[in-house]
Formats: sequence, structure tokens, C-alpha cells
Amino acid sequence: MKAPIRVAITGAAGNIGYALTFRLASGEVFGPDQPVILNLVEVPPVLKSLDGVEMELHDCAFDTLAGVKKVGSDNLEEGFGDCNLVLCVGSIPRKEGMERGDLIRINGPIFTNTGKAIEKTAAKDVRIVVVGNPCNTNCLIAMHNAPSVPRDRWFAMTMLDENRAVSQLAQKAGKPVTSVKHVGIWGNHSATQFPDFYHATIDGKPAPEVIKDDAWLQNTFVDTVQKRGAAVIKARGASSAASAANAVLDTVKGIIRPTASGDCFSAAVYSNGEYGVDKGLIFGYPLTSDGKTVKIIPGLEHNEFAQSKIKVTLDELKSERDTIKDLLPG
Ligand code: NAI
Repeated sequence: MKAPIRVAITGAAGNIGYALTFRLASGEVFGPDQPVILNLVEVPPVLKSLDGVEMELHDCAFDTLAGVKKVGSDNLEEGFGDCNLVLCVGSIPRKEGMERGDLIRINGPIFTNTGKAIEKTAAKDVRIVVVGNPCNTNCLIAMHNAPSVPRDRWFAMTMLDENRAVSQLAQKAGKPVTSVKHVGIWGNHSATQFPDFYHATIDGKPAPEVIKDDAWLQNTFVDTVQKRGAAVIKARGASSAASAANAVLDTVKGIIRPTASGDCFSAAVYSNGEYGVDKGLIFGYPLTSDGKTVKIIPGLEHNEFAQSKIKVTLDELKSERDTIKDLLPG
């Protein structure tokens, strides 16, 4: 029997947390012979409702679930203790009238504590995926507060944007989603992101050659993907949850499984200056994995349109970083 993988999920009783927990326990991500222990982390007033989640987890009788632990966010060192994977979902959602900058300042301290606890008690091979928004900058804060965790272990989620983009391209081309490959999301997980349709392929051909409608790609497609989160909120009255949880699982699969030839997966990672991005930012790139190491795809050329889009999202991330500079020790 393999040693269990221990996974912490913050915000486990929230909408994404609820959709995520069961699929993680089911063996879907790590395989049918890999036991998983779940550390479910919530703010103390909400902990009680995790009792119900725990009961339901047991009621699924998953072969792969080797244990469940519920921990308050006032005890993150226990919550992340020996964890190989920390999924940071919990954060305060944006309320009406709140500016993005306000949200960054409110959620920043959560991620300071997250980083410190990961540094102290997580497993030596820990990987972290930040989902709670603004996820790129929250990831930056946590990373700076965990200086001994290597930079290449940190990820902020842009996979939902990639999946949205794949689906839009497939629908427009009248092809199944499996025909669409190599869709990279550049920059921030926000309405400035650039879903790169130029390097995307449909049945192995460049997407623009198949779709033959540059105006649609440059305007409707980019706009739809950038604003999809808001459109879901408008329609559902609540932010994307099942699709976000699905994207968390896809992100973890992207990291731990070798990427198929000719494909990529998207996440925001520590930039060493690739593609002219400021070193140290958590920036969305197209990535590949060999199952152990994740790499930014090198050598992609961007035309003027793509460059202008990437500049906008880069400028936004720089400004987010400047808003929380005081939360970045070292
Ligand atoms: P939700 O409000 O349903 O759940 C959030 C949960 O986090 C709540 O149960 C809350 O008690 C908990 N929480 C708050 N502060 C916490 C802390 N310090 N420690 C532990 N738990 C804490 O929200 P939902 O829909 O699950 O979304 C969670 C986050 O994910 C939001 O920030 C949302 O903006 C973000 N999100 C990110 C996406 C991405 O693509 N990166 C996509 C969709 C949502």
C-alpha cells in the first residue's frame, strides 16, 4: 500500500470546497491505488458545518479516502501539517461596492498566515495551488511568507479560464473539446487575462486558420472568456463553483501528470522574467509538466495584438503587487 498523500483544502465548507472535496477523495486525481487524507480547513464559526461534509465523505465509502481532519483557520500550522498539497480556496469574496484594491488588502493577511504556516509545518515536497481571489497576488503574498519553499511549487489558478476558452473555441469551430489543444492563459486571473488563441490548435491546425474570423477571435472570444465569471454570477446569482472545483482538479492533474505532446496547461507561476514579465510576479503562462517538474513553454512569438493584451494584464499585476508591497517580507 502506498503512503497516503495529505491534502489541505481551505474554505472546505464553501461552494468550491464542497464540490472539490468529494472528487479529491474519490481517487480521480491521484489514482485508484493512492490513499488520500483530507485536512479540511475553515474559519471557526463554520467548522461545525464541516461535520456534515465529513459524514457525507464517510458515506461515500471511497476506497481511497484514508482519513479526514477538520481544523480551524486559527490553527493553520495544524491544518497544513505534513501536507503534500495545499489548496487555498478560502478567502473573503468581493462584496458590492468593494474595489479590487480593497479586496486585496482584506485577503492579504489571510495569505500572510497561510505562507507562514506552510513554511513551518507542511511536508518538504509541498505544492500549493491558490484559488481564492485575487489569486495571483494572494499566491505572491503566501510565497513571500514561506521563503524556504522553492518558488516552483507555487501555482495560482487560471485553469478555469483555459477550460472556458477551450469550450468557446470548440463551439465556434463546431468540433469536440478534445480537438482543441494548447490554449494558454497569460497574466492575471481577472478580466485583463489574455486567452491566447493564436497558439491554440484545433485538430492540430492553428485555431485562427480553422475559425477564419479574426474579428470574432480578437473581440468576442477574448471578451467572453475574460468576462465569463461575471456572466455566470449574473445568471446563477453565485460565482462559478462546480466548474471552478473541476478546474482545481485539472490544475493538479496538469502538475502531476506528463503533458501530452503538442498541448499545454495553464497556471500562474513564479516568473523568472520570461517573456519580459517582471521577475518575481506570479504570472499566468502556458506550461508543460513531465510529471515532476513544471516548465513555462519557451520561444512563443507574440504579434502586436497579443503583446498589447499581455502588457495590460502585466500592468494590472504590477499595480496589485504595489498595493500589498508591505506584505512581502524579504
Ligand atoms: P464561498 O464564499 O462559498 O466559500 C469560501 C469559504 O472560505 C467559506 O466557507 C469561508 O468560511 C471560507 N473562508 C474564509 N476565510 C477563510 C480563511 N481565512 N481560512 C479558511 N477558510 C476561509 O466562496 P467560493 O465560491 O467557494 O469561492 C472561494 C474563492 O475562490 C473566492 O475567493 C472566489 O473569488 C475564488 N474563485 C477563484 C476562481 C479562479 O479561477 N481562480 C474561480 C472561482 C472562484
